[in-house]
This record gives sequence, C-alpha cells and structure tokens, in this order.
Amino acid sequence: MTEADRWKQFWGKQTTPLHRFNTPFWYEKYAEEINLILKVSEYSGGAVLETGCGNGALFPYLDINKEYTGVDISESLLSIFRSKHPYANLICGDSSTYRSNERFSLIFSNGVIQYFNRQMMNRYMLTSMDMLEENGILLIANILWKNAKNGYYSGELTTRTPKSGNPSLKIIKSFIWRIIKPNDSMGHFYNPRDFFQYGVNTTVYGSLFHPYRFSVVLRKKTQ
Ligand SMILES: C[S@@+](CC[C@H](N)C(=O)[O-])C[C@H]1O[C@@H](n2cnc3c(N)ncnc32)[C@H](O)[C@@H]1O
Repeated sequence: MTEADRWKQFWGKQTTPLHRFNTPFWYEKYAEEINLILKVSEYSGGAVLETGCGNGALFPYLDINKEYTGVDISESLLSIFRSKHPYANLICGDSSTYRSNERFSLIFSNGVIQYFNRQMMNRYMLTSMDMLEENGILLIANILWKNAKNGYYSGELTTRTPKSGNPSLKIIKSFIWRIIKPNDSMGHFYNPRDFFQYGVNTTVYGSLFHPYRFSVVLRKKTQ
C-alpha cells in the first residue's frame, strides 16, 4: 500500500478535518492566521489552488480569490464541501501528483503536508513551483515541526493544560508510545530547513495556536 493509499483510507472515513477544535469559532481563528500570513506575503488576488481542502471548513473565512480549485484525496470530505459550495471547483485526487496546465498566483495547504513522505513532498514542491505564476506564492501552513516532536508527544507543547510531572520521564514515555504506535494519525514531521532547498525566497512563521507547528511561504522568482 502506498503512503497516499494509506491516508486515502484514513481520510475517506472522516467527515471533519479533525482539527484540535472543530467548531466554526475555531475555523475562523485558524483562517485568520492564514489570512495574516497572506497579508504580510502581499498576496494580491489571482487564481488559487488549495492542496488538501478537506470539507471546506476554513473556505468561507479565507481572504482568497474565489477563482478557486480545491484538491483532496477524500471523497467523503469533498462531498460535504460540494454540498455547501456547489460552485467551487473541487477535484478528488492525490495532491502530491496533481498537475494542471493552469497557472496560480497562490497555492496553499493547511495541516496537509504531514501526510506526504519525503518523496511526495519533493514532487509536490517541484510541481507546485511549476504551476505558480511568476511572483506567485506557495504557502504551506501548519507543518508538524520535527524538532518539537518530543514536546508534542510528551504533552509539553500541546495547547491543552500542561501535564504535570518530570519532563524527562514524559519524553521517555513519548518514545515508548511512538514505538508501540508508529503509525498514528499525525504523519510526518519536518524542520524549517527542509524547505530552504528549492532555490526560492523562503520565509518561516511560527504557529499562533500550535507551538509544535510552523508555516512556510515560498515565493517564485525565476530571475
Ligand atoms: C487535517 S485535514 C485539513 C483539511 C483542511 N486543509 C483544513 O484545514 O480544514 C487534512 C486533509 O488532507 C487531505 N489529504 C491527505 N493526504 C492527501 C493527499 N495525498 N492528497 C490530497 N489530500 C490529502 C485529507 O483528506 C484531509 O482533508
């Protein structure tokens, strides 16, 4: 079974994006963070491609051009998106292999790249750069931060009330947990430096709501 098939099976059974908090109040907050990054990145409109758009929970709150295409591997999530926004252009498929002849001024994802292994991520980065127009931006929001992995699994860096107890013991527990359950629903962790190899202008942002996540913006400049 390929990595994409594994996640297709998992996400094919879901009806929500499984954010830490799944309420419209929080969807608006999560979207606000993306809007802030778009603003400081001087995104100025133009065609948009969303990678792993899910059920469109964030869609109504995003400051993006409605010339929009969303791709997701889960038909169950897309059918919810379609029922709420019948005019959105939605495609069911693996975003790591998706390629269009259209040119976009923004390609973005939120909480998705963790379902890409290195090979998928590399392919995704290269095809996204191809599909971007000059000066277009690739925003990858809420990437799991590899150097903060122990903090996530030990509970030190979650947004819930910090658990008391010896931090070293918690790290040992988190290692044991990961050996017992290596394929949990979190997926792959990356470091900011993994995104600096694509020869473009790259900016890194810490996450407002999840200290074990970060976002990157890559701007396409061919000259
Ligand atoms: C945590 S949810 C986030 C959904 C949405 N971006 C949001 O923020 O509400 C992760 C999404 O990634 C999608 N996904 C996982 N692997 C994918 C792949 N290879 N291609 C396209 N979508 C994928 C899942 O189906 C799911 O909708």
